[in-house]
Amino acid sequence: MTSKNIISVQNLTKTYGKKVKTDVLKKVNLSIKEGTFNWIIGSSGSGKTTLLNLISGLDEATSGQIYIDNVLITNMNEKDKATFRANHLGFIFQFHYLLPEFTALENVLMPLRIKNQKITKEIKKQAIELLSTVGLSHVYDHYPKELSGGEQQRTAIARAIIGNPKLVIADEPTGNLDSINANQVYDLIRKLHKDFKMTFIIVTHDTIKPIKGDRLITLKDGNIIKDEVY
Ligand SMILES: Nc1ncnc2c1ncn2[C@@H]1O[C@H](COP(=O)(O)OP(=O)(O)OP(=O)(O)O)[C@@H](O)[C@H]1O
Ligand SMILES: [Mg+2]
Repeated sequence: MTSKNIISVQNLTKTYGKKVKTDVLKKVNLSIKEGTFNWIIGSSGSGKTTLLNLISGLDEATSGQIYIDNVLITNMNEKDKATFRANHLGFIFQFHYLLPEFTALENVLMPLRIKNQKITKEIKKQAIELLSTVGLSHVYDHYPKELSGGEQQRTAIARAIIGNPKLVIADEPTGNLDSINANQVYDLIRKLHKDFKMTFIIVTHDTIKPIKGDRLITLKDGNIIKDEVY
């Protein structure tokens, strides 16, 4: 593991409202090291999703800076941000957002198509291998409605990492799953972290089972109130 920062957040503030202003993030400072496994926890409304959306460039900061891989993303225009996202980040959301009219395999290939990458036989083969890594080799040609909730979410995870992103961001990835499927998703995420050495940031409400090396960041009212490495 290198000691390079993949994320550096400096004095990050997000304020909503015109007349009545609410500070949802209050001068947050945070660095995340490359290849690490990070949990963000905190009660509902503490600012977790806001922080992830700012880091991923889906939302705009009121003030402060965010560097990803030493690139200042808070100054980028929308088009550059979208390109940066497509090339560097993988996303897993609470709801899978699979496209219903495409099979699991086609959904997994979608980020590459969006980047205008040519889908060669070799790439298709890699996508099928990835689907087999996430335990779905038997259903790769199923449409989302023909998959269970856990299978849908594992498809979405394969889609998030097909482009080999350095950073994977997950906002309550098990929020729609029962505990058995949720555990499978966490086991899978662990395995991917181990195999591919990507940096993970996971927001969750679940009771987490941290392992040695995990970082646990707690937000409260827009501040980091606790930050510990196991
Ligand atoms: N677009 C918006 N306009 C105004 N206020 C907003 C907006 N989005 C979020 N907020 C407020 O910002 C605060 C933080 O929201 P955020 O979604 O980051 O919380 P969270 O920690 O992800 O909560 P949860 O665990 O419920 O998902 C909340 O008080 C919310 O009401
Ligand atoms: Mg949230």
